[in-house]
Amino acid sequence: LNYWAVVPAAGVGQRMGSACPKQYLSLLGKPILQHTLEKLLQTNVQGVVVSLAAEDNYWSQLPTLPRVWTAPGGTERSDSVRHALEKLLTFPEVKPNDWVLVHDAARPCVRVSDIQNLMQTVADYPIGGLLANPVRDTMKRADTQNCVTETVSRQQLWHALTPQMFRLQLLYDALTTAAIQGYPVTDESQAIELMGYSPVLVSSHPDNIKITHPDDLALAALFLQQQNN
Ligand code: C5P
Repeated sequence: LNYWAVVPAAGVGQRMGSACPKQYLSLLGKPILQHTLEKLLQTNVQGVVVSLAAEDNYWSQLPTLPRVWTAPGGTERSDSVRHALEKLLTFPEVKPNDWVLVHDAARPCVRVSDIQNLMQTVADYPIGGLLANPVRDTMKRADTQNCVTETVSRQQLWHALTPQMFRLQLLYDALTTAAIQGYPVTDESQAIELMGYSPVLVSSHPDNIKITHPDDLALAALFLQQQNN
């Protein structure tokens, strides 16, 4: 069986407040997206499909990377992932049961060893799984005025990260079903859960942050520098 990867990179990154989409911001002298792709290409994935926004003016400035193809982005992240899976399914060498790893463009600090650990651990599970982190803080639910209504137990509560690894055809069917039903899914696991399956959570190193706010850039630079030492 082969492993493939999909990188949704068609977001505008509104919360970043920058002129260019966040996946193209420079991090230690290289666009964030390039760091992310280089991490995936250090594993034994056969190839990577990147979903890009129609109005993307930055992709062409990246150096050409081997085994990387592009697909059109969509309105939501899940649409961008679906389009990339459609592209993969046109490749003659792709089998419906092949594994696909979906990884956010905005997570350049993922460790290659964590991706490899996910691949090894999930290979024994029929459905798939995802990198995740146990919640550390005490969790509160609040009303619309930000007043606490409940303390939520953090036991058995995890942060869902990426990559998320599933069987290609199953993931495509799950995302398509969620889209037809108008069910908003914010990660791949949620679509698989809606099919009645239970993906496995695999612990990630906590430096696998999603760059969302301007302050995250300095933190990401620190994490990458630490990894290179
Ligand atoms: O906005 P957020 O940080 O949740 O986006 C996660 C990832 O999904 C980013 O890499 C972003 O570029 C991508 N995305 C996408 N298509 C969209 C929205 C987000 O590919 N319509």
